[in-house]
Amino acid sequence: MRRRDFVLGALGAGALSYAQPATALAQQRHLAIPYGAAIRDGVIAEDPLYAQAVIDYCQVVVGEGNLKWGTVQPERGTFDFQLADDLLAFATKNGMEMRGHCLVWYAGNPDWVETIASAEEARTEMVRHIETVMGHYKGRVRSWDVVNEPIADAPTTGAVYRDSVWLKHLGPEYADLALRTAAAVDPEAQLVINDYDFEQSSDKGRAKRKAFLDMVRGLQSRDVPLHAVGLQGHIQGQIPIDKPGLTAFVAELASMGLSVLVTELDVIDNLLPGAELERDGIIAQRAKDYLDAIAAAKRPDMVLTWGITDKHTWVPIWFSRDDGLPNRPLPLDADYKPKALMDVIQDFCAE
Ligand code: XIL
Repeated sequence: MRRRDFVLGALGAGALSYAQPATALAQQRHLAIPYGAAIRDGVIAEDPLYAQAVIDYCQVVVGEGNLKWGTVQPERGTFDFQLADDLLAFATKNGMEMRGHCLVWYAGNPDWVETIASAEEARTEMVRHIETVMGHYKGRVRSWDVVNEPIADAPTTGAVYRDSVWLKHLGPEYADLALRTAAAVDPEAQLVINDYDFEQSSDKGRAKRKAFLDMVRGLQSRDVPLHAVGLQGHIQGQIPIDKPGLTAFVAELASMGLSVLVTELDVIDNLLPGAELERDGIIAQRAKDYLDAIAAAKRPDMVLTWGITDKHTWVPIWFSRDDGLPNRPLPLDADYKPKALMDVIQDFCAE
């Protein structure tokens, strides 16, 4: 009997359609909010310390890349679920939930996707991808980043939506198609739009929040299914958090009936001082300000960091330090020792 069926049976029909293991595991650990991390492909199998850290701290995991198009559909019509199946097996074995990231994005696409040449072709491929991927995990993956990063990096320049093969052929309503398709495949799934830079006290931050709220209002006015917003939280460490701006933004989302999730928290530290203690202190404070500002409006459903250890982080790909020191964006250091950021997260998630 599958775990979900077992739980359904135990609770009586109709009580819950998903096991919600993240919540169950969080409750066992007296956490009000489940915590989790993005997992890099292959590392769990290679590095026992990494696997143990994930087991010790996480109630939920998400693949850092295992469900992106380039991995899951590298050739048109050829689907490969091996890496995501492996992570789901690890999660299930350890009582964790796995989130799905992501179904429609401007990046992470194999070359063939970028050659899509018409609206009809874009529609066909997007629908087939969502049906196949979500269908494969139906009843096993509860929460999906259906649309990732739809807003332009600097929406101040007039182009509000981020350029992509989807926008080019379908216009902004590509998001409608993605969400409606996802809802049809798995009516029980939590459908999420995920984006970043909402916390910045800058024209860019304000423009991003406005563009995002306008987008969500548009979706709701067209009755497009949407349940939650993913606040990525790739915080730029050198910029203080716009606490009032972020709280007002989340309050507005909450008033629209949406849940919020913190999906990709880390503190980008390339422009912070080098000294570790000082740097870790600023990083922890930024994350605390960020989480507190969100919770002042609405408690997030879950908090995930984008990685768990500084040993495996995407940050140096884009934000390496000029002084050559390693980045320290995550809750555990490169030797798996918890840092001040882990204390902030654990306090925040605790009951
Ligand atoms: C990043 C991964 O961490 C990298 O390993 C990969 O090279 C590129 O993508 N926002 C997102 C994530 O939604 O999917 C990105 O992940 C980081 C930024």
